[in-house]
Amino acid sequence: MAATECATQSVIDLYTELALNPEKDFGWEKGFDNAKAHGYKDKWLDAIPLDIWDYCAAVGNPFSLGDFPEGSTVLDLGCGAGIDVCVAALHVGKRGKVIGVDLTPMMVQTARRHASEAGFDNIEVIEGNLEALPVKTESIDIVISNGAINLTTSKPKVFAEIFRVLKPQGKLYFADMIDISEGTCKTSCCSQSSTGDWANCVEGTLKKEELIEIMNEAGFVDVKCKGTNHYMTSPTTIGATFSATKGE
Ligand SMILES: C[S@@+](CC[C@H](N)C(=O)[O-])C[C@H]1O[C@@H](n2cnc3c(N)ncnc32)[C@H](O)[C@@H]1O
Repeated sequence: MAATECATQSVIDLYTELALNPEKDFGWEKGFDNAKAHGYKDKWLDAIPLDIWDYCAAVGNPFSLGDFPEGSTVLDLGCGAGIDVCVAALHVGKRGKVIGVDLTPMMVQTARRHASEAGFDNIEVIEGNLEALPVKTESIDIVISNGAINLTTSKPKVFAEIFRVLKPQGKLYFADMIDISEGTCKTSCCSQSSTGDWANCVEGTLKKEELIEIMNEAGFVDVKCKGTNHYMTSPTTIGATFSATKGE
């Protein structure tokens, strides 16, 4: 199996396990307390059934990065068990629409179940890869993501796809793990060589500057790293948030 296929399979295996056993200790923070620690508001925590929060593998809070106007169409990349699609649905209201995309079939099933249990009928969850989004060109107002982009094997393809699906002036707000190790990059130099800690949000991380460069190359403007947080998946990988705009 090629290294990229191996990395992808390790992601599917790990997140199938999370979908089936949300109470299992994977070695990183998750669940209700994790969401609270990232500043998820009480009104969201109260509006979504408690057991859904068990699956929350957020590494930051994309909803802290900008406005989510009522009636907007939001796309969540690597939506996992559907926590952020539910939070987005609370923001955009009944006139809005939320689409979640995830690679792991068991996560897609779980997110669909959770959207229905939470009472939303304007959430669609699609199985797919962020590197070839099953989403129409220029159909999305806001793209969000939480802890998923680092798990993909070609970040340039992912940001090109995000750029394609956003409407002009559309927004990108995401949280992800970044590499804060000293020295030159590990991942863009040898992303094919190691899958050991790929699924745990370590091996696939890029440095802040690398991510910003890829976003600029994809055509985004006003690209910013908004800061880092407490969340760590290894001594050299930390949660960070980013925002960017698709220009005219
Ligand atoms: C760390 S979990 C985060 C899930 C969710 N965003 C949350 O905050 O709870 C990462 C998710 O990204 C998905 N994922 C990883 N690589 C992907 C890819 N290339 N395309 C689509 N989804 C992917 C995984 O299946 C998993 O559900």
